[in-house]
Amino acid sequence: MCRAVFVVALVALIRPAAEALDNGLALKPTMGWLHWERFMCNTDCDRDPDNCISERLYMQMADVMVKEGWKEAGYEYVCIDDCWPSHQRDAQGRLQADPKRFPGGIKKLADYVHSKGLKLGIYADVGKNTCAGYPGSLGYYETDAQTFADWDVDLLKFDGCFMDWKSLGDGYMSMSKALNKTGRSILYSCEWPLYEWPFQQPNYTAIRETCNHWRNFDDVYDSWSSIKSIFDWTASHQDIIVPSAGPGGWNDPDMLVIGNFGLSHDQQESQMALWAIMAAPLLMSNDLRDICPRSKKLLQNRLIIAISQDPLGKQGYRTAKVDSFEVWERPLSKNQLAVAVLNRQEIGGPRGLAIRAVPGWKICDPQCNVTQILPQYKEMGVQTQQSKIVLSVNPSGTALLTVTPVSKDFKGLSKLHRKNTSVKRKHNTSL
Ligand code: GLA
Repeated sequence: MCRAVFVVALVALIRPAAEALDNGLALKPTMGWLHWERFMCNTDCDRDPDNCISERLYMQMADVMVKEGWKEAGYEYVCIDDCWPSHQRDAQGRLQADPKRFPGGIKKLADYVHSKGLKLGIYADVGKNTCAGYPGSLGYYETDAQTFADWDVDLLKFDGCFMDWKSLGDGYMSMSKALNKTGRSILYSCEWPLYEWPFQQPNYTAIRETCNHWRNFDDVYDSWSSIKSIFDWTASHQDIIVPSAGPGGWNDPDMLVIGNFGLSHDQQESQMALWAIMAAPLLMSNDLRDICPRSKKLLQNRLIIAISQDPLGKQGYRTAKVDSFEVWERPLSKNQLAVAVLNRQEIGGPRGLAIRAVPGWKICDPQCNVTQILPQYKEMGVQTQQSKIVLSVNPSGTALLTVTPVSKDFKGLSKLHRKNTSVKRKHNTSL
């Protein structure tokens, strides 16, 4: 790298985003829980009542979200994915929930979730069938939008299976209009570009005008190879996709799988850090009823969530590849910068990267204040361009920092920073 890449990145940063879908929603990346990656299409409630797709699952998740600090941390949407409906529409052509697994129906479930101060998401498909073979919405966009509104649903994830790719745009736009017509605020999560990419480059201006977030790439799996493939796809398409992200509309790299089985703790930290840098929706797919305390603490880390939800609303870029490290940077409000340094070498022990190798480090002229958030919280104090800091990063782990420029005019302020730093210098893992 990487001067050229960085210059391209900067040019793209100052390009204004296209108009977002004007429904007043998703002004910050959506936060919540979505069942798919962890619970998939488990409909066997006789043999597996605790994990099958049923109203009980969402009610229990909503309970835990309130009791265990998730709601307080910002996680708001409890989302149903595929496999919730009956295989048949009702006599009026409306979708209906499977009566055995959702005896109370979706409206009652929405009331329950709302009584907890949370929101309910549901899933449907732009084509003839959902990906798991349940009825799709093709030919029923207005009916289904109205049904979801009548049930007081707050979010629709609209999949793209079983649809002629040439009609994807029409289908997604029609559903967007149908949702708008109901008069209810329903956040609209699309998979339009994911299904269009195999055929042609999607029109991100139109997508941003239509959807509140959009999946671009393959489904996430509970594995490091899956997470890496998402990083790689995002970085290799960043000049196309990053400019389209901003308040009201976001690129969606799919669910957080933190707290499941396939990622080491370092890898979980890498997913959390990079999802924040990518301004991605934070939709966890895990079992909140049974999650290890370290994963919970990571998912509820207020400093990482603050990066994700930063009001400037700009997605970050990969700005450098050096010595098997990747540097990712996201501009934040108040001229701050979030920096993630990902160690892509998967052999050996922790390796060091001089902080001066970070392209955005130039904001440290004349001075900046540095806070490390991952792998542990550490105030690194006031630094200059000549800083000697070397970040130590575990294999497949990430160091996450915020860098705040300090003007020389504010001598008093930098003195204050120095003072704070000397007090807080010890590792503090309480955040
Ligand atoms: C597709 C989507 C997934 C999930 C499944 C459900 O694969 O990309 O996120 O919704 O369908 O069948």
